[in-house]
Amino acid sequence: MHRIRLGVNVDHVATLRQARGTTYPDPVTAAALCELAGADQITVHLREDRRHIQERDLRILRQTVQTVLNLELAANDDVLAIACDVQPDLATLVPERRQEVTTEGGLAVVGREAEVSEAVARLQAAGIRVSLFINPDVESVEASARCGAQQIEIHTGFYSEARGAQQTAELKRIRLAASAGARLGLSVAAGHGLDYVNARAVCAFAQIEELNIGHAIMARAFFVGMKDAVREMIAVMSEEEVRRRVR
Ligand code: PXP
Repeated sequence: MHRIRLGVNVDHVATLRQARGTTYPDPVTAAALCELAGADQITVHLREDRRHIQERDLRILRQTVQTVLNLELAANDDVLAIACDVQPDLATLVPERRQEVTTEGGLAVVGREAEVSEAVARLQAAGIRVSLFINPDVESVEASARCGAQQIEIHTGFYSEARGAQQTAELKRIRLAASAGARLGLSVAAGHGLDYVNARAVCAFAQIEELNIGHAIMARAFFVGMKDAVREMIAVMSEEEVRRRVR
């Protein structure tokens, strides 16, 4: 059965390792377990401050990942050069601020199209598919298409933090952005703040082909193990896929 692809973000394994400066737990091991459990993609974010994933992790993952390696990165020179050298299958451009706990907003594409287009072209020239992590608004989707990206990843963080009517409104923004992306011929992914409950509604949108999920899966892995945590998320995503088909 076709289902939405699951990209598992293993950054938090590296966060735990960096907290003690040890050599364990290794995100490379985690990535292998995620793949054995059925993950379709491994996602890592090489941050400018190297707070979790290190260049060493990225280089080893390039050799060991059997599915698809998705590198999240800011459009800065240093990390773009590393990306072009390592050649992940997919590069997702994200905004980055040193003080943030995690990526807070989508990439500002509107009004910065020349700069973003240049980064997109540089990655594509190295043979890498490019996705832009953007807020759920149609203007950002259209600007992403103009920048030449092949994919967008819709920021679901606002939805995951909202409650009640506000959450319904945020879900609608995601749906409209996903439809706009599909209409423009872009592949559509979504992610940030998704968990075993709130991912369900997002999976119901036919235009969404991929989810990238990190924190919720890693948190569950503490209690049930990495493979079960991944399998349980795939089960959630598969249930929604079935519902969508019978609608
Ligand atoms: N997608 C992008 C672009 C992200 O930056 C992150 C966080 O690193 C995620 C998905 C995963 O978010 P979470 O850890 O909240 O599932």
